[in-house]
Amino acid sequence: MRGPQIALVTGANSGLGLACSKALAEKGARVYAAYRNPRKAGPLWELTRALPVFPLLMDVNRAPSVERGVRQLLRREGRIDVLLNNAGFVMAGFWEDLSDKDLKDQFETNVFGLLRVARAVLPSMRKQGSGKILNMGSVAAFAAPPGLGPYSATKFAVNSITEALRMEARPWGVEVAEVNPGEIHTSVVQNTRMGEGVFSARSPYSPFTRQFEKLAKERFEKAAPVEKLVQVVLKALGHSPMKRRYLVRPDDYAIYYLRWLLPDALWEWGLGRMFPWSWPTE
Ligand SMILES: NC(=O)c1ccc[n+]([C@@H]2O[C@H](COP(=O)([O-])OP(=O)(O)OC[C@H]3O[C@@H](n4cnc5c(N)ncnc54)[C@H](OP(=O)(O)O)[C@@H]3O)[C@@H](O)[C@H]2O)c1
Repeated sequence: MRGPQIALVTGANSGLGLACSKALAEKGARVYAAYRNPRKAGPLWELTRALPVFPLLMDVNRAPSVERGVRQLLRREGRIDVLLNNAGFVMAGFWEDLSDKDLKDQFETNVFGLLRVARAVLPSMRKQGSGKILNMGSVAAFAAPPGLGPYSATKFAVNSITEALRMEARPWGVEVAEVNPGEIHTSVVQNTRMGEGVFSARSPYSPFTRQFEKLAKERFEKAAPVEKLVQVVLKALGHSPMKRRYLVRPDDYAIYYLRWLLPDALWEWGLGRMFPWSWPTE
């Protein structure tokens, strides 16, 4: 392939997207780093001083914004070699406490947004006969713990999207894969949204919500550093062809294989050790 790789990274102004944009640019790619809020784009502009990183305004929730961003990129570069489909957020809460709007917001970004960007880059990748799309999944794509249902539902959906798209895109030389990290140190917890009814005094789930928050905090205290995920993303994008799935930490392998191996009852019993309220003993 001629010249440097042209990469598009969504949700690139913080966390995993920012770290991967930097790493890809350090490896020689020209990185179009998409952000949606100019007030939060400071870290990206910092990167542009020393690296071939080009901030690109793109809200994945809005089709015109996605189309405009991809058009701008193609006008400048004429091709897109890599899409790291990373933008997303966590909506937490117990199903009964969640409004339709909560759920639609969660799916709008994590599922429709991800698909919108993939579909916007596919025509050019197809025409050039090559390209790599790496979707940001999660271990929440294999296990849906109580209180994390909306987020897990979107990541389960990303898993199916990857599975079908991978085979749909292959005849055109376009590779599609997914990375499924567990907890990684970013601002994802601070940026987590809780459903509308979660903090209502009337919610019967309030005690569970408090336990859920405590558990989430404890788990994130043991989160892996961002570099761990970056290494896996670089490894995935370096493979040709890419594997179907890339796991990150030993814990993530354990969740993936145990969920697959264990009968449902045993799996639920195991989850019940972590979320005792979901497994009443009497
Ligand atoms: N950190 C983890 O433990 C972990 C584990 C598994 C999977 N993931 C996944 O990794 C991805 C990145 O998360 P992170 O940990 O890096 O969290 P983060 O620091 O909160 O980053 C999320 C990024 O997505 C962007 N974003 C959200 N909605 C968007 C929209 N509508 N349009 C464009 N950008 C949007 C955010 O932009 P704003 O700053 O403007 O909100 C931010 O740049 C997510 O898909 C998440 O589900 C994270």
